[in-house]
Amino acid sequence: MNTQNPVFNGNRMKLGTFCTNGKGPNLTTVPESYMATWPDTRKLAQMADVAGFEAIVPYSRWKGFVTGQPDDRTGNVMDPFTWAAAISASTRYSAIFSTSHAPTYHPIVAAKQCATIDIISNGRFGLNVVGGWNRPELEMFGRPLQEHDQRYDYLGEWLEIVSRLWQSDVAFDHHGKFFNVVDAVSAPKPVQRPRPPIMNAGGSPRGVRFAAQHADMCFVVLKGDDPATIAAQVNEYKDLARQEFGREVQVWSSAYVVQGETDEQAQAYLHRYSVEHEDSVAADAWLKALAAEAQLMPPEALKAARSRFVAGAGGFPLVGTPETIVKRLSLLADGGIDGVVLTWVDFMDGLARFTRDVLPLMEAAGLRSKFGGGDVLAA
Ligand SMILES: Cc1cc2nc3c(=O)[nH]c(=O)nc-3n(C[C@H](O)[C@H](O)[C@H](O)COP(=O)(O)O)c2cc1C
Repeated sequence: MNTQNPVFNGNRMKLGTFCTNGKGPNLTTVPESYMATWPDTRKLAQMADVAGFEAIVPYSRWKGFVTGQPDDRTGNVMDPFTWAAAISASTRYSAIFSTSHAPTYHPIVAAKQCATIDIISNGRFGLNVVGGWNRPELEMFGRPLQEHDQRYDYLGEWLEIVSRLWQSDVAFDHHGKFFNVVDAVSAPKPVQRPRPPIMNAGGSPRGVRFAAQHADMCFVVLKGDDPATIAAQVNEYKDLARQEFGREVQVWSSAYVVQGETDEQAQAYLHRYSVEHEDSVAADAWLKALAAEAQLMPPEALKAARSRFVAGAGGFPLVGTPETIVKRLSLLADGGIDGVVLTWVDFMDGLARFTRDVLPLMEAAGLRSKFGGGDVLAA
């Protein structure tokens, strides 16, 4: 793979931001909860960029989770492709991702959009390919949501066409189960060769298989925080990729950060925003939809993990002092996790304090080398 893209650098624990193109993933009513504006989302990307974060990852959502409430805040999410293009032009180091709900973009359209963003970012683009699971938002397009495993078959064919368009110098036809593509070409090509990195977050057996076969960065929703559970989940992807597909993959997770002066203070704030001020209507709707359509975890386990979904999209908790947060990140690295994308309730304050207090401790712990910016930011 192209080694210029920072997601392939040598840091033991790579970092990203997640969901800064919308209201953020947490389901809370506290007033300081983030809501993306262009100046804020750009500023956050620039803060992550100069701090040496490897990835800036948006999310894709066409409709909020609460039915009959068109202004539900969970649906307030900027389009990840046009956002990624503008963020690319505003940053210089980090990889900029887009998130693609494959059933809503023809692969010829997606291939050209991605190549364009790869050119704007000079080879820093990456694509999170998503099959879609939230029935109302996909049915809004006038087509039924496909059966679960078939969504991954569709995604595979979709990605095959996108990849061919990125790589092929000759026109080709494709007559498959889902697409008929005739005399297909796409130019300009992406900067990255053979292609920009692919990310996927499939969690079901079929989803894990898809990720192991196609993704460079697989996302896992961690089921526990003991080293053996983490390593087992990570190795499921890495072993399958090696043994069945002869590939090496990275495994990332998402994590929510609540940083405090003391562990107790951080826990108290977590309780405040995610329990006392839980957005219960949105949380009920989201978990009901996830249980019905995704197979990340059995419905009972999902119910038990409610607080993690309210606090930060089912991410891994990084709650406590900077020292505690770094211990938790070391635990992830020891379990084989290659990177985490981070969320906060108040992204601006959270990212600033994380960069100031946690990054130096990560460097001291050997999780990351000091980011000087070097030639990239000086250019
Ligand atoms: C880190 C992460 C990011 C995701 N981003 C999106 C997204 O932006 N839009 C979306 O509809 N689904 C998103 N998903 C959901 C996944 O694409 C996938 O549908 C889900 O993990 C269920 O997988 P499964 O059906 O294999 O169980 C994300 C999941 C994770 C863990």
